[in-house]
Amino acid sequence: MTPAPLILGIESSCDETAVALVRGDRTIVAQAVASQDAAHRPFGGVVPEIAARAHVEVLTPMIARVLADGDVTLAQVDAIAATAGPGLIGGVMVGLVTGKALAFAAKKPLLAINHLEGHALSPRLVDPDLGFPYLLLLVSGGHCQLLAVDGVARYRRLATTIDDAAGEAFDKVAKLLGLGFPGGPAVEAAARRGDRARFRLPRPLLGSVEPHFSFAGLKSAVLRARDALPAPIGATDAADLAAGFQTAVVDCLIDRTRCAIDAMPEATALVVAGGVAANGAIRAALAALAASRGLKFVAPPLWLCTDNAAMIAWAGAERLALGLVDGLDAVARPRWPLDPAAEPVRGAGVKA
Ligand code: KG4
Ligand code: ZN
Repeated sequence: MTPAPLILGIESSCDETAVALVRGDRTIVAQAVASQDAAHRPFGGVVPEIAARAHVEVLTPMIARVLADGDVTLAQVDAIAATAGPGLIGGVMVGLVTGKALAFAAKKPLLAINHLEGHALSPRLVDPDLGFPYLLLLVSGGHCQLLAVDGVARYRRLATTIDDAAGEAFDKVAKLLGLGFPGGPAVEAAARRGDRARFRLPRPLLGSVEPHFSFAGLKSAVLRARDALPAPIGATDAADLAAGFQTAVVDCLIDRTRCAIDAMPEATALVVAGGVAANGAIRAALAALAASRGLKFVAPPLWLCTDNAAMIAWAGAERLALGLVDGLDAVARPRWPLDPAAEPVRGAGVKA
């Protein structure tokens, strides 16, 4: 029996450099992730030029190491999958050009992967029983969307954010509460110690007939509540504000997801993916919602929620199986919606 195809995946669209070897039968042969947190921490956020430079330095030796860890040569790899967007364009170009060079040199097919498709299909890497169609809540630093996943390369956007993404809101709130970078895990840790009922914070668009998300007003409310306290705020104040904020985010996510479940009766499962899906309170609330609606719930393990290359290699395996390969002229894209036919929505900072 011939072994399932072996895919080399490359991810470099934000501040993680990652490489993975994954087989089409879901075996993760080897992988590595290098976070650039330390390089960006002094700036309180990701600096695109620093990120791109760090990807250049780390990527090639990482590919060599992952191949060695997997005990394979490039000749034994069946295809190269590289993130081609959306993301910080310098970093995306580093990964995609590297992937193209390897594909050209080793005469292997190239798979130019949409990073969001990597997140969207990642639950199928760890759950062989997860079939289509499913409802996906995709919550990351750059996106907050509800998507009907009808199949590989077949996505319908049911809702998106009209301003900030959920992860972006976590990061901004962490910054204004002095909780450090990266913000999501810091807010979650502080929230665990906090009193979520102390501050009354808004839940933007909760109960609205339009299906979308909004987090900018919530973030501003946290800022106003902070500024109403004597400066500098103490650890208890920060923890209480973090807890109030996280609870409001959970309420908004659950309300909007409930509407999407109604709009997608054919869904076989509720699935959450993206960096914010690492949040324990959000996972627990979604699990309870799915159970109350008799839906299977799938949340990938934490390492698969945040950026990694196994999900890129896996999306590559799914696409290769359908013959969806790309040419070496594939372009790097800063913006690349999963559902290009989605209706434009109102709002200043609409994410594609
Ligand atoms: O998917 P991801 O790793 O990168 C993007 O594609 O954006 O998501 C990163 C985002 C960041 O905003 C980070 O603060 C957030 O995910 N995040 C979390 C948690 N862990 C990561 N947000 C809330 N709670 C967490 N535990
Ligand atoms: Zn991501």
